[in-house]
Amino acid sequence: MKILFVCLGNICRSPLAEAIFIHKAKEQGLKVEADSAGFESFHRGDPADPRSVAVARAHGIDLNGHTARMFNARDFDHYDRIYVMDKTNYNDVMGVARDDNDEQKVDYIMNLIYPGENRPVPDPWYGGKEGFEKVFRMLEQACDILIKDLALDHLPTRPPDHPTT
Ligand code: 4NP
Repeated sequence: MKILFVCLGNICRSPLAEAIFIHKAKEQGLKVEADSAGFESFHRGDPADPRSVAVARAHGIDLNGHTARMFNARDFDHYDRIYVMDKTNYNDVMGVARDDNDEQKVDYIMNLIYPGENRPVPDPWYGGKEGFEKVFRMLEQACDILIKDLALDHLPTRPPDHPTT
C-alpha cells in the first residue's frame, strides 16, 4: 500500500504524518510505502522543521533525513491514497488531478477519525511548541486508524459525497 501525505510547506505536518505512519507500520510488521510532499516551493530541499523533529523525537520517532519536495501530478500514478491536512492542500491537490480516478485517491487525513467532516490539521508553523504536540496527537490518532484498516487489508472507505466546502 502506497500512501502520500500532503501539506503546504512539506516541513511541518506531512513529514510528521509520514514518519508516524512508517513507524507504526513497522511496529505492526506491515509492508507499506509512504512519502510526503507540499505545494510551497519556498522550503523545497529543506529538512523538517526543528519543532516537528523535536516532537517526533519526544515520541521516539526519527524525523531526520527528511527533504521537502513539491507535489507532482505523477504522484497520482504512484500512490494509492493521498491524505491532505487542510482545505488549501485539498484544493491544491484536486487542482492537479487529471481525472476521477485521481480525485478518488484524495481525502482529508482527519476524515479517518471524523468521516466526511473535512476537519483540518491546523498549520503549526506560526505557533509555539504546543501546536506541534497537538498536531502530533491528531496525526497519531489518524495513523492508528489507517494502520488498523491496512492491517485488516482494506483501505478506509471514502464517503461517496465529498463536499469541498
Ligand atoms: P506545513 O507548514 O505546511 O505543515 O509544512 C508550513 C511551513 C511553512 C510554510 C507554510 C506552512 N511557509 O509558508 O513557509
